[in-house]
Parts: sequence; structure tokens; C-alpha cells
Amino acid sequence: MTDCQGDCDGAKSPMELYEELTAQGSKVRSLKTMKAEKAEVDAAVQLLLKLKVDYKKVTGQDYKAGCPPENSAIPDNGPAADGADDEDTVDPWNVSTTNAKGVDYDKLIVRFGSNKIDQELVDRIEKVSGQRPHHFLRRGIFFSHRDMHQVLDAYEKQKSFYLYTGRGPSSEAMHVGHLIPFIFTKWLQDVFDIPLVIQLTDDEKYLWKDLTLEQCHRYAVENAKDIIACGFDVNKTFIFSDLDYMGACPEFYRNVVKVQKHVTFNQVKGIFGFTDSDCIGKISFPAIQAAPSFSSSFPKIFGSRTDIQCLIPCAIDQDPYFRMTRDVAPRIGYPKPALLHSTFFPALQGAQTKMSASDANSSIFLTDTPKQIKNKVNKHAFSGGKDTVEEHRKYGGNPDVDVSFMYLTFFLEDDEQLEKIKQDYSSGSLLTGELKKLLIETLQPMIAKHQERRKQISDETVQQFMTPRPLNFNL
Ligand code: TYM
Repeated sequence: MTDCQGDCDGAKSPMELYEELTAQGSKVRSLKTMKAEKAEVDAAVQLLLKLKVDYKKVTGQDYKAGCPPENSAIPDNGPAADGADDEDTVDPWNVSTTNAKGVDYDKLIVRFGSNKIDQELVDRIEKVSGQRPHHFLRRGIFFSHRDMHQVLDAYEKQKSFYLYTGRGPSSEAMHVGHLIPFIFTKWLQDVFDIPLVIQLTDDEKYLWKDLTLEQCHRYAVENAKDIIACGFDVNKTFIFSDLDYMGACPEFYRNVVKVQKHVTFNQVKGIFGFTDSDCIGKISFPAIQAAPSFSSSFPKIFGSRTDIQCLIPCAIDQDPYFRMTRDVAPRIGYPKPALLHSTFFPALQGAQTKMSASDANSSIFLTDTPKQIKNKVNKHAFSGGKDTVEEHRKYGGNPDVDVSFMYLTFFLEDDEQLEKIKQDYSSGSLLTGELKKLLIETLQPMIAKHQERRKQISDETVQQFMTPRPLNFNL
């Protein structure tokens, strides 16, 4: 990425050439769509070809739409990049793979340029926090990070940090997959005793979905109840709707504008796969998801401090937003946010895709009744078992592709019990129906308890969480 944004003299950087090529490609496409004069189209194509030659000379790579040069400041995994030499698609809107075991997360770390959460880091989190690592860390469910060692270094020197996570309120009911980052964030808040901000991107859902502003805002408030039901402390947590907070806090909007000034259209095209026909709201939205990464966006909590480090727990689908944010941060005088990435809670039908609210059969919702949970698991949960009981007893099942077993790795806290289930299933002594029963018996009380906690949350409590105010911290 370049600071001069295309109007500097002298030799062009790989990123400038890439941007020019992307723009020229769009120009050729729109000339063709508009059925422009042949001579004009030919001239545009000639320039496109020349730029491709220049690009190859400078980078040694062929130009690929959606794949910025490898050493560019914002590594890209944009939608257009997928399928080039990699079968997994992972972006904020789509997650898919052909592998029944799920996304190849080791490859994803390489592609996204993040770092693996290895045993050394898990041990360090244990040492610094003084707490046994959460089972999401012990089991590699949170598997990737950016700058977590730096966060811990600073914390050891009494320099605190804050947590930021979020939710796009696209419907009234969240699914169990959405709980993963919130459960983990709650644990981080408890063990490090730090402030937390939660962004509800009702604006994002209005821009992307066929919903009214009123619906999106209402879903934000409804989803806030589910989030609060995860146990967050009102004295340490601020939850906000973009539709409310953008207008209420000038400092937040100023940070949005700063980010907007430092990211070009070509860059967001490259990162997010936007096209010329996407509305301009979508194109500028990433700046709004970036802004909470900077402490000065929350003057009531952090005063005028601009230097407080932010740590973002989320599933890895959100990483494109934060690659962009991390690239911009130093150029607008702020620290880069650190990240902890989780794997995806798979769809009932199998780990080829993530659980998604837009496919009701793929998901177990936080509003499901015990009966619905039982039926969904029994009917839809992909099994790694054999076709007949005799074969299963003889050859055993495959827990690596079995959705019920995968769900238990997320929600069954007892390591020994989980290991025994794995052994028994693999050896064939535990049948698919029995494994499903264990899952149903784990999920039903878990969701019933969640519903019970949610019922206790009044509108006043939501209002309290969503009011901009100082939190109980002296940072
Ligand atoms: P959204 O609403 O799609 O998802 C909310 C959070 O849940 C994670 N997630 C999942 N985690 C595990 N398994 C799944 N199947 C699964 N599906 C979703 C997401 O990664 C996310 O952490 N644009 C965002 C909202 C947002 C945000 C943020 C998220 C705004 N600022 C900062 C994380 C961090 C969105 O639409 O998330």
C-alpha cells in the first residue's frame, strides 16, 4: 500500500501497479458492458496488457485479480483469490472447502500471514494470566494470532489493553457458532480484568441484506441480550449499535474518516472482492469495523488516550477487516490491533462450511427447544460412522469428520471424557446414535441455561450496557 495513492512520480511500486491494473481491468469490463467503440475498447485492452507486462517485470509474478502482490502491506485472501491454487474459501461472507475435515487452518495461517497459537503461547497465556487456559486454547479452537506476544509483553509491564469484538445483527436469533467468540472473550475479560467493547454492525446488515434500518436496529438490541447472557460484567463492557454510536460520538466518526482517507477503492476491491456495482455504503463500511480498534474511539472509557492496545477475538472470517486496519493504524498514529482467531463451528451437514444463520437447517439456534435440538442433531448432523452397526463395530467411526464429535470438542469441557468418547467412537464401541445422544444431552441444558439467563435480561439492563459511559477501570 502506498501513501501517495497513485499520484507520485518515479518508479511504481508493485502495489501501485497492482491498483492501476485492477482499475484498468474494471475499465475494460465497463467499456465492454457499455458496448463502447471498438477502438476505445482495443486501446484500453492494450494498456491493460502493457500494465500486466510491467507488473510481471517488477514482481516476478503474473497479475491475478483480487491477489495483491505477495509482499504488499495488506496481504489479501479476497474472494477472487480463492480457487487460484487453493480449494478453501474464507472471507466474511463465505466459508467453504471440499475437505470433510473442514478448512485447512495451517494453510490459512500461511495464506493470511498470521501466526499459529502454539504450545509456547498457550503456556505463556497461562503464566501471565495465572489461570488454566480455556479449553478453546487447549484444543486449538483458537488457533491463530497476530501480535499476542506483544500484548503479553506489555501486560507483564503493567501496560493494560482492551478487548473488542462484534456481531452483525442479521436476524433475531443467533446460532451456537456465534457464541464461540463471545464465550472466549468473556474468559479473557475475566482472567485479564480488562475493558471490552462490542460493536453491533446494524449498518452493515442494512447495507448487505434485504432488511430495513428499523429491523437491523431491533435485531441489534435483541442480539445484545444474547451477548449479555454470556455473562459479561456491565461495569467492564460497552455494547454499541453503529446506527446509534456513530452520531453520538464525534471521536468515533473522526477515526472512521481517518481510515477512509487511507484506504483506496482498489484496496478494498482487492481485500473484500467488491465490484463496481456494489453500493458505496459497502465500500466504505470496512472503516467502520476498523474504528473500534483504536482507543480514541471511546473517549468516555479511555479519555484522550490514543495508545491503548486493542485485542480482537473473532473467527478467522473477520480477519480481512483487521488486515486492513493493521495496515492503516501506524499511518494514522495508532497501535495495530492484535488478534486471536478461532476456527469455525461447522454446519450440521458437515465441516465443508460453517454454521450460518441464513441456512436454518445448518444451524442450532439459541432459541431452539430441546425437541428441535434433538431432531436437528438426529436428522442432520453428519456422521463419521459406518453404514451398518456390524461394520461400525468392526471398523469404528471417524471422529475427524463427525459433526457431533466436533461439536463436543467445542462444548464438552471435560478433557478426559472427550478423549474417552473419541477412543470409543474410533474403536467402534460407541455407535453414532449414542454419540448423538451425548451431544444432545450436552446441548439441551447448555441452551436451556442460556435461554434462562436471557429471560432475566430486561430492557433497562440492555440500555445500561449500551449507554456510552466510563467503565470501572483506571488505565
Ligand atoms: P457475525 O455476526 O457474522 O459473527 C459474529 C462473530 O461470530 C463469529 N462466527 C463464528 N465463529 C465460529 N463459528 C461460526 N460458525 C461462526 N459464525 C460467525 C464471527 O467471526 C464473529 O466473530 N462484521 C461482523 C461483526 C463485527 C465483528 C467486529 C466481529 C463487527 N466488529 C469485531 C468480530 C470482531 C459480523 O457480521 O459478524
